[in-house]
Amino acid sequence: MNDHRPLIGPEKQREDEPHHDSIRPHSLADYIGQNKVISQLKIYLEAVRMRQEAMDHILFYGPPGLGKTTLAYIIGAELGIDVETTSGPALEHPGDIAAILTNLNRRDALFIDEIHRLNRVVEEKLYPAMEDFRLDLVMGQGPAARVIPLDLEPFTLIGATTRFGALSSPMRDRFGIIFRLEFYTEEELTRIVLRAAVILNIQTNLDGAREIASRARGTPRIANRLLRRVRDYAQVKGNGVITREIADVALNMMDIDPIGLDPMDRKLLRMIALNYGGGPVGLDTLATALMEDRDTIEDVYEPFLIQKGLLHRTSRGRMLSPSAFDYLKLPKPAAYAEPELPFPTL
Ligand SMILES: Nc1ncnc2c1ncn2[C@@H]1O[C@H](COP(=O)(O)OP(=O)(O)O)[C@@H](O)[C@H]1O
Ligand SMILES: [Mg+2]
Repeated sequence: MNDHRPLIGPEKQREDEPHHDSIRPHSLADYIGQNKVISQLKIYLEAVRMRQEAMDHILFYGPPGLGKTTLAYIIGAELGIDVETTSGPALEHPGDIAAILTNLNRRDALFIDEIHRLNRVVEEKLYPAMEDFRLDLVMGQGPAARVIPLDLEPFTLIGATTRFGALSSPMRDRFGIIFRLEFYTEEELTRIVLRAAVILNIQTNLDGAREIASRARGTPRIANRLLRRVRDYAQVKGNGVITREIADVALNMMDIDPIGLDPMDRKLLRMIALNYGGGPVGLDTLATALMEDRDTIEDVYEPFLIQKGLLHRTSRGRMLSPSAFDYLKLPKPAAYAEPELPFPTL
């Protein structure tokens, strides 16, 4: 039933892991798109190189698959420093973070993925570490407990999250640099597909790459996965070369529609149209009706639908836009009231 999940789900697949991913860009020169972020980042990196200091703590946020992890490693490569990697849920005890921090060398970076999922105690250990490069070690227990401050080497914390809103404000405030990653344009994704095709030795013409790019939900990770699947199709059903026609048939077979929506996207839109008169409907109600995790709906599915102008988050719940009915080829229900502009957002 959930056969579409691996396409856009969070990074569960080994092909995405840094050491298995030959197509992940390893330097700024290889990085395509996110121009606003990249031009600022270049300046900050240059300044830090000149001063030979640790870079300020930096946070990347945005939907899955847009390049947060990639940028964390690129920073390491550009500065010639090590990037230790962990994730919010992996750090269970204060001791876990203490062990990592005390092992960092001067100017190294610690990358914490899914940083919004850090637990409270670990997060509080991080505050003095981020602010003063100090770790408060607690020795003993109960009334006899003593706090021993320990100096750390200057380091850079690189955080990544799909949910900026779920970060506590003391945490947010401790990042000197905060970047929001945007969906990629079709042209940028075309370049990403062509680049990946060269690395993976896949033959594609420009129109074939464009077709994949236009159906990749604005997301490099999805573009790369679609490229691999279309390649399979081209090998078995064609002569190995990805053309527009081959890509079109392969993507149709995978139920990816002309604007890149997959079965779950369409199910979500149809549900709001048919069962809730176009909205507004609350996220929890939707999640229950779709039998889908609410965070997945919010972090993975909604951002692209919002970007496409099909869905709106309003203070009263989720609403379809008038164009969503056109897209679904459904009439607007009588009770449907077009969301007001600007939308009072949640
Ligand atoms: N700007 C880019 N140019 C080329 N490929 C990219 C770019 N950003 C991401 N990718 C590709 O997309 C995949 C997902 O990126 P990743 O950094 O893991 O996303 P996130 O951490 O935001 O979920 C990477 O494996 C990489 O191959
Ligand atoms: Mg990542």
